[in-house]
Amino acid sequence: MLRQAIIPLAGLGTRLLPLSSVMPKELLPINGKPNLEYLLEECIQAGIKEFIFIISKNKEAIKKYFFNDDFYKKILKKKKDKKIFEAYKSIKKYQKMIKFVYQNKPKGTGDAILKCKKFIKSSHFAMLFPDDLIIKRNCTKEMIKLHNRTNGSIISSKKVNKKDVSRYGILSIKNKKKNYFQIKDVVEKPSINKSPSNYAIIGRYILPRKILIKLKNLKPGQGGEVHITDAIKQLIDDGEKFYANIFKGKYLDCGTLSGYIKSGIEISKDQK
Ligand code: G1P
Repeated sequence: MLRQAIIPLAGLGTRLLPLSSVMPKELLPINGKPNLEYLLEECIQAGIKEFIFIISKNKEAIKKYFFNDDFYKKILKKKKDKKIFEAYKSIKKYQKMIKFVYQNKPKGTGDAILKCKKFIKSSHFAMLFPDDLIIKRNCTKEMIKLHNRTNGSIISSKKVNKKDVSRYGILSIKNKKKNYFQIKDVVEKPSINKSPSNYAIIGRYILPRKILIKLKNLKPGQGGEVHITDAIKQLIDDGEKFYANIFKGKYLDCGTLSGYIKSGIEISKDQK
């Protein structure tokens, strides 16, 4: 039973400056609520019961957003307003599910996972990148289904234009079926010539707990960061089964300003 999800939230958000200089990008509203809440809803619908948020001391606002009881209690004492109570309730429901760990130096997603070590209990856990929203279909639910069927680790994937491969981790394919394939290899941000396919990694993973051992022994790679892709590559080489779930929803990249604006438009259309 997959119950835990890790969400790395310690990133600097430089692609969304100047907005992200005063507010964590993950709290910027998309059609009225932070993109982070879309991720939580997707996970809860898929059966996830516990979230581990990796924040940094510059991202304390995320903690405050979910755990601001004193503020609500004070204001509700003064104003017995139903709308304020509803807002409080909508946030409070998440409190029991969220744990925080800190990553104060941006040393990559691999390092972020290592910070969660003491909380990761079962054989597999989910990891979601908050920049990547997938709407119209529940991607985490689809991935858990594939994980239950194969007993393997899962990465969500989407076909991208050849010219865009160097923006993503790219997968090499083995035994392709209609909606999934086994992953033979992964290459992080390859050049067009070196790209093994145009199936890209989109920020949703179901990873085995044993990745922690690989991460612990991994030397920092590109840009001095510990990359999750390098640890996945090593696990595949060791014979661990990884599958790509070719998800059916619509992918929105809200990590850049143009993508963030587009996400707002798409989600408001979707929720009409
Ligand atoms: C990360 C991963 C990459 C993946 C991408 C999806 O890259 O390293 O493999 O394709 O997320 O958004 P980043 O966005 O941190 O550059």
